[in-house]
Amino acid sequence: MYACRLWIGTEPEQLGATISIGDNPTFGDVHDRRVEVYVHDLDRDLYGSDIRLEVAVRLRGMVRFTSLEELIRQTESDVVASRAVLAAQARHPLPWHPSGLEDGGAPRRTRS
Ligand SMILES: Cc1cc2nc3c(=O)[nH]c(=O)nc-3n(C[C@H](O)[C@H](O)[C@H](O)COP(=O)(O)O)c2cc1C
Repeated sequence: MYACRLWIGTEPEQLGATISIGDNPTFGDVHDRRVEVYVHDLDRDLYGSDIRLEVAVRLRGMVRFTSLEELIRQTESDVVASRAVLAAQARHPLPWHPSGLEDGGAPRRTRS
């Protein structure tokens, strides 16, 4: 699980996200590695959109939970932790980070 900064297409707004990468061992029947992105504070269909993700921090590894309730409780606290990390990094950006640039590190198109 990772806290990420996220951009949609060429839109300049930076959003926060919590992402899960793995085979969701709680369910046992997932045989590929999935990337699931939970975008904070966004109520919009993103199917078909390009997104860019920048990992801010690793929160934890995949866990096999014994109940769905436990999984849900943990994902909720992941999102709380993720928001806190992103907010702290926004207050104290690393000196080399593009968010210190005038355009806030807005995405640049590198291909057409
Ligand atoms: C923040 C976050 C943390 C997650 N952590 C775990 C985990 O520790 N173990 C796990 O089996 N699945 C984890 N998942 C994946 C869930 O199992 C998955 O989102 C859920 O099964 C829904 O899948 P579906 O959209 O294919 O129905 C996590 C998902 C998110 C968004």
